[in-house]
Amino acid sequence: MKIAIINGPNLNLLGEREPGIYGSDSFESFLEKLKQRYPDVSFQYYQSNVEGELVNALQQYAREVDGIILNPAAYTHTSVAIGDCIAAIKVPVIEVHISNVHAREEFRKLSHVSAKAVGTICGLGLDGYRLAVEYFLNKS
Ligand code: DQA
Repeated sequence: MKIAIINGPNLNLLGEREPGIYGSDSFESFLEKLKQRYPDVSFQYYQSNVEGELVNALQQYAREVDGIILNPAAYTHTSVAIGDCIAAIKVPVIEVHISNVHAREEFRKLSHVSAKAVGTICGLGLDGYRLAVEYFLNKS
């Protein structure tokens, strides 16, 4: 099973960015633990702060993997292009948010991604990514 994890803007700063909201683990250290826990899964990881690069990555990984776990970060709330891309590609995409976007500012309640994704996990911290992996494993 091949799974790509794609993170959007500012998620490269996990661990130092607003730790009260996003926790104090870096994504790299979390990813190492995830790889150890699921040795049979081949993980690809990509992070970008640039909207078009995320669209390019989604299109590219769609040809290479069995499932995509996507945290579009702030682009969730603004990007028609990322929503359109998920509708266009055939690989299943799970939307993940570390924080509970519904318990924060009003603008975070709008997602251009949710309706196109298989499902959404939010508010469960980094464990949301692991739960998305479990979904793909249980489905295969
Ligand atoms: C986020 C939530 C978004 O609203 C925010 O812009 C982020 C991270 C999350 O993982 O909780 O950058 O996607």
